[in-house]
Order: sequence, then structure tokens, then C-alpha cells
Amino acid sequence: MYMRHWLQSPSSLTHGNIIKREIFSKRTEDPTDEEGAILRYVDSFSRCYLEPRIASVPTALDDRQLVFYVVDGTGIFEAGDLKQEVGEGDAILVPPGLTHVLHNPENTPLEFLILEEIIPDGVEAPRKDALIRNYRERPLGQGHWTHLVHPIFGQDDGLVVLHSVLVVRIEAMQTPDTHGHGPDMDEVWYMLEGNGIHVVSRNVYRQMPGDAVSVASSNPGHTLINDTDEPLKTFYFARYDR
Ligand SMILES: [Fe+2]
Repeated sequence: MYMRHWLQSPSSLTHGNIIKREIFSKRTEDPTDEEGAILRYVDSFSRCYLEPRIASVPTALDDRQLVFYVVDGTGIFEAGDLKQEVGEGDAILVPPGLTHVLHNPENTPLEFLILEEIIPDGVEAPRKDALIRNYRERPLGQGHWTHLVHPIFGQDDGLVVLHSVLVVRIEAMQTPDTHGHGPDMDEVWYMLEGNGIHVVSRNVYRQMPGDAVSVASSNPGHTLINDTDEPLKTFYFARYDR
């Protein structure tokens, strides 16, 4: 279990002009592992932005696919014949080998998250084209008593290592059930709006916007309690141990 804010994470560049703060990365056998190297399967989770009126450099990554999630601002995403405006709540699945560009045409920064999953040897990524979907497009579900779940992408959409990418809301003054996870998985919650108390095993975190909490492992469990008068909204990703 672990909490880290993106401000605590080092900055680097990706796609030429995208400013990246890598919050979590995949752990390695190296004992001098960097802070935040706690993921078991997913390779990287970052908070990123593009400055106003700046475009990324056209980029194709052969060994991995990416999931972008737009937090704030408006951008233009281009890949092949696809050219589409994206904004808050839009997610983009970019398969390996696809040259893509993200452009910020506005006078305000474009803020987004990037997930990276390296395609394992011998596995072929199922998608060849990019997929754009807003989290509001698919039916809302409910689980763990009070998780209001907006599905974004699953393995039917072309995820390979990840099983689930969601937006999860919890209403004011609500608690989900307490449930536990073993160490052989990834489950991360990133606070987008509002805040709550995330209890993970014996740790108690006040999870504010920009904080990411990893809950694998959590024994006997974890619970994100909304103890405030406003709904909270999170970006969630997981690879389950099934
Ligand atoms: Fe969980």
C-alpha cells in the first residue's frame, strides 16, 4: 500500500513536448528501485500536461500501448485518418506502432493521465486503431455498496495487461464495504475531484485531488470513505489476480 501525489514525482518528457510526472512505475529486482516503483504488472502511471498552443511530436511506440485520460482542457488527437477533439472525461487507447499526435490549441494547459502497458513477448495487441471514449458513454454500475462505476476500457476493447480502466464516484457521506486484495495484482485510485479517507490495511490516508493510492496488497482490506458533503470522483485502473 502506498500513496503518492504527482507533485512528489520527478518530471521528464515524453512525445517530445509532453511534460510527465511519473507517479507509479513497475517494480524491478533492483534494490535501489526508485520511489514509486510499486506496480506489479502495469508499467507506468503518470500525470502529464501540454503547455498552451503546443503539440506533441508525432510518436509511435512499438513495444507498448497507452491509455490517455483527459482531466482538464481541450486537445486535438490525431492518428492516421482519425482527427478528433478531446476534452474532460475522454480516454484514448493507443495501440502499439500507431503514430499519434496530441495538440493543445487553447490558451490554457491540457492536463491528462497516461497509463503504459508493455505488450508481453509472444502476445499480439488486438487493436490496430485508436479508440476514443468518454466515461459518460457507458451505463453506470454499482458495486461494493457505494462505488458508482463508469466503465471506460476493458480487455474487450483491446487492453492486454490491464483488466479495467474506470471512473468511480462515491457520493457524499457514503462508505463502500471493506474488501482486501492480495499482492499479485495492481489496483490504483487517483483522486480527480473531492476527497475522502482511504483506509488501506492499517494506513489512513486523506486522499486529495492529485493523490494516487495503490491498494495491492491490502489486508484485511481497503475502504475509500467519503466523509465530506460533496461527491468524490476518481480515476481507477486494475489488473486483477484472476
Ligand atoms: Fe478494491
